[in-house]
Amino acid sequence: MVRSMFDAIAPRYDLVNRIMTFRLDTRWRRRAVRDLHLAPGSVVLDLASGTGDLCIDLQRKGLTPISLDLSYGMLANGRSSAPRAQADILKLPVPDNSVDGVICGFALRNLVDLETFFAECARVLKKGGRVALLDVGVPHNPIIRFGNNIYFGKIVPKIGALISDAAAYRYLPRSVAYLPERHELVALLRKSGFADATHTQLSGGLTQLMVGTRD
Ligand SMILES: C[S@@+](CC[C@H](N)C(=O)[O-])C[C@H]1O[C@@H](n2cnc3c(N)ncnc32)[C@H](O)[C@@H]1O
Repeated sequence: MVRSMFDAIAPRYDLVNRIMTFRLDTRWRRRAVRDLHLAPGSVVLDLASGTGDLCIDLQRKGLTPISLDLSYGMLANGRSSAPRAQADILKLPVPDNSVDGVICGFALRNLVDLETFFAECARVLKKGGRVALLDVGVPHNPIIRFGNNIYFGKIVPKIGALISDAAAYRYLPRSVAYLPERHELVALLRKSGFADATHTQLSGGLTQLMVGTRD
């Protein structure tokens, strides 16, 4: 279901993102890349890379990204020059201890098993390697949360329906419900081999970023 949905929205995915976030999404991705704190030349897997926005930011920083995604449509609409492959990120076709960094943008809530995903991230990373995970969040401030609920729940689906695919943009805002609370996410990440994992709210909590080091 997830794969065919992203295949369908791939051609206009970037455009809808820019419009519905007022381009804040570009800022959030740049922050995730910066917080990897990796040296130029480091090899970074962009997991659930979609059309490769994070790959472009990684390349700008002199890093060497590899793009993996389940949706052929998203990969085919990719705009980066990173090598790419169609793969399920819950079963990474990547050897143990082989990469310096792992990054994943706005995909956690689509995954059926976060524990397996975090274990896969830990498996492929070298000791000292870095992970950065970005996804939509639930703002703590009740006023921002109220506004965000209306915007995300009522307006984003209309923008999506107008420019892209109505069913997909009804699902995407609702999929936030599949994300565990932030303390559970951090606890799971720490248990998976990232003892120093931290959580940061971006833009008042509209988005959340977790980073950690493979111990
Ligand atoms: C909301 S998009 C995010 C794309 C990109 N990371 C970004 O920052 O814009 C979510 C992506 O996750 C991918 N995805 C979902 N489940 C996946 C899985 N199990 N394995 C690989 N990719 C997956 C989808 O195909 C889609 O491209």
